[in-house]
Amino acid sequence: MSEELKTKEKNYYSNLRPERLKEYIGQKNIVKNLSLAIQAAKKRNEALEHCILYGPPGLGKTTLANIVAKEMNANIITTSGPAIEKVGDIAAILTNLNEKDILFIDEIHRLNRAVEETLYSALEDFKLDIIVGQGPGARTIRLDLPHFTLIGATTRMGMLTSPLRDRFGITLRLDFYTLDELSLIIERSARILNIKIDKESSAYIAKRSRGTPRIANKLLRRVRDLAQIKDSSSINIKIAQETLEMLEIDENGLDYLDKKYIRTLMDKFNGGPAGIDTIAASLGEDKNTIEDVVEPYLLQIGYIKRTPRGRVATNLAFKQFTFKNKLSF
Ligand SMILES: Nc1ncnc2c1ncn2[C@@H]1O[C@H](COP(=O)(O)OP(=O)(O)OP(=O)(O)O)[C@@H](O)[C@H]1O
Ligand SMILES: [Mg+2]
Repeated sequence: MSEELKTKEKNYYSNLRPERLKEYIGQKNIVKNLSLAIQAAKKRNEALEHCILYGPPGLGKTTLANIVAKEMNANIITTSGPAIEKVGDIAAILTNLNEKDILFIDEIHRLNRAVEETLYSALEDFKLDIIVGQGPGARTIRLDLPHFTLIGATTRMGMLTSPLRDRFGITLRLDFYTLDELSLIIERSARILNIKIDKESSAYIAKRSRGTPRIANKLLRRVRDLAQIKDSSSINIKIAQETLEMLEIDENGLDYLDKKYIRTLMDKFNGGPAGIDTIAASLGEDKNTIEDVVEPYLLQIGYIKRTPRGRVATNLAFKQFTFKNKLSF
């Protein structure tokens, strides 16, 4: 492959994140939109408009934010919603930015109100209003900020307030990856990790990756471990199968918690509808984990449905689970 990949193989442990848009596999629409916006901004010699990236965990939001910075030749400052506790924190971050810097706020739905409100004028007018002094003598001063780009990432677009959402010029929704895209990602990662893999094995791992590159890479690493223990310089289907069985991951990529979720919905709640709070309590799991990690993929493969009265197991789930996976967790 390219020179770029060769140098990558040299840095044996370099991470698996693509660094350029053209290396980025899948999410064709996003790549197209971003590439256009980046080219246009560069032509105008302006900062890119603020972007919001949203979608389930592990689909490439952080990766894309870093790619945008590289493509714009800009510095990236990375933080996250819960890390910015006070208005003073965000004020310090904003006043330290330079022209065209990229500020990446992960989990942006977890910003607190006061911090979020400070962001409004920063995003729209590149101004920062600070209150100096206290009581009747207090006054507001308005500071000019450099033209920066905010990239927000969230797994929960619905939790963003509309004033914040409206201030992003570019909205990018990440979807689960197709099997072909995941196979390509696995093959690329295998090259970087310096292990051979045949097509059958990459397709096998892809099918069990829940449409998610992070999971694909994680499974690949586990399969590679087994290959190395067995002194095999390449991954074959046998090694892939053995690893996935050891990990108790089924043919659709469902793991222990996914299966437990479906069984609970089917057995304890007669297939639903059941509210998310009740299901989470019954599973003894955090509700956010269920909503962010478990449900999106089960919805995608058609095992559950969301209705106004709660979650419902579909006929497909009943069919699969009654015959095949009887008490397989
Ligand atoms: N298009 C892609 N091509 C190749 N690898 C990718 C791609 N997208 C993501 N990855 C890989 O998947 C991993 C997870 O991606 P990333 O950390 O960007 O996800 P995320 O959406 O930010 O997740 P989270 O919501 O948990 O923060 C990365 O380490 C990267 O190696
Ligand atoms: Mg991330």
